[in-house]
Amino acid sequence: MSTQTVLAIWGTGSLAQRYLDIENTGISVDYFIDSSKTGEFAGKPVLSPEQVVEHGITHIVICSTYVDDIAPVCLRQGFDIEQLSVVLPRTLERIPFEQFSHVEGAFYYYLPWTKQIPAIEHSLSSDIVFPDVYKEIAKSVAYVYVSSVEGDFAEFGTCTGYTASLIAYAMKYYSEFFVHHETMHNMTPRELCLFDSFQGFPASTKAPDLDSPHVASGAWGEGTAKGLNAQQLKQLCSQFIAPERINIYEGWYKDTLTTIDANKRFAFVHLDCDLYESTYDVLYHLFSNNLLSEGAKLLFDNWYCNKASRHFGEQKAWHEICEQFDIEYTNIGMYACVGHKMIIHSYRKK
Ligand SMILES: C[S@@+](CC[C@H](N)C(=O)[O-])C[C@H]1O[C@@H](n2cnc3c(N)ncnc32)[C@H](O)[C@@H]1O
Repeated sequence: MSTQTVLAIWGTGSLAQRYLDIENTGISVDYFIDSSKTGEFAGKPVLSPEQVVEHGITHIVICSTYVDDIAPVCLRQGFDIEQLSVVLPRTLERIPFEQFSHVEGAFYYYLPWTKQIPAIEHSLSSDIVFPDVYKEIAKSVAYVYVSSVEGDFAEFGTCTGYTASLIAYAMKYYSEFFVHHETMHNMTPRELCLFDSFQGFPASTKAPDLDSPHVASGAWGEGTAKGLNAQQLKQLCSQFIAPERINIYEGWYKDTLTTIDANKRFAFVHLDCDLYESTYDVLYHLFSNNLLSEGAKLLFDNWYCNKASRHFGEQKAWHEICEQFDIEYTNIGMYACVGHKMIIHSYRKK
């Protein structure tokens, strides 16, 4: 016996409208659901979340960025995961909810790169901010394996875990792809080292931060950018690489940097801690303790923030460090909309 499909779109905003505009593909919408609107949308009745169960709905398409709020409501109302799907705001792709991952106590997220990495060049559009960050990170991880740069992977600034999990995924993908290459070059299994306070940004104390537009506006204020806790981050990244290869350094950088093993070397560092002082502390420690390998790739996620000024943030920290350590590097330019990347060749050891 076939069950009739009764489909509702959750959301009556611009995302729902954009989805309807492209979707003229036979999708037949019976209802819309919205917690703050009533009446009709696109010629169909708008139900409140409480009315959903009365109407025999069999499929819900979430057309809202509030997936973390809406999905639990649907599940509590007795819908199965297979009955739910989510429309991605950028690409308008409709993704089955079962492809989303869930961090206990935190939020639902979708890792598009799990299907896109094998064909990353073809599938990602370079004019979209976030996919372009993912693309750059994935390419940089690949570079380490292809070019046999020695050492581990590090990220300073983990927050939501999006970029950390991408690094972990790319490490899994490329370490398998280049397994013979790694063996030929006698590489030991690489680790992922993740550094964060897990409390968001520290209070700014130095003039280059206090005077910067992003700190002055409160965007990089104390306690902002607080995301996953250490356990959630580990759970997220352990989907891709073994937990014993993930080292989480929890606390302020000035305290955790000194706990890095003196024999460690990094082949890849993703600097995503935004502030001048945080970036300076990290770079100073890495260079003064000879922790960067020849060929190490540095990615600065927020280089062109603060109106791209050399007087603030990551740029100022880098220029000061360069003067102190006589760094010979190749400046390989901008990525995404505010990122910048370098390859380190040599530097003066302290
Ligand atoms: C922009 S967020 C990182 C975004 C992250 N890569 C993601 O994918 O969501 C900046 C992070 O840097 C961390 N951070 C900044 N300065 C720090 C410091 N001095 N010590 C520890 N963590 C710091 C904050 O806690 C925050 O999680």
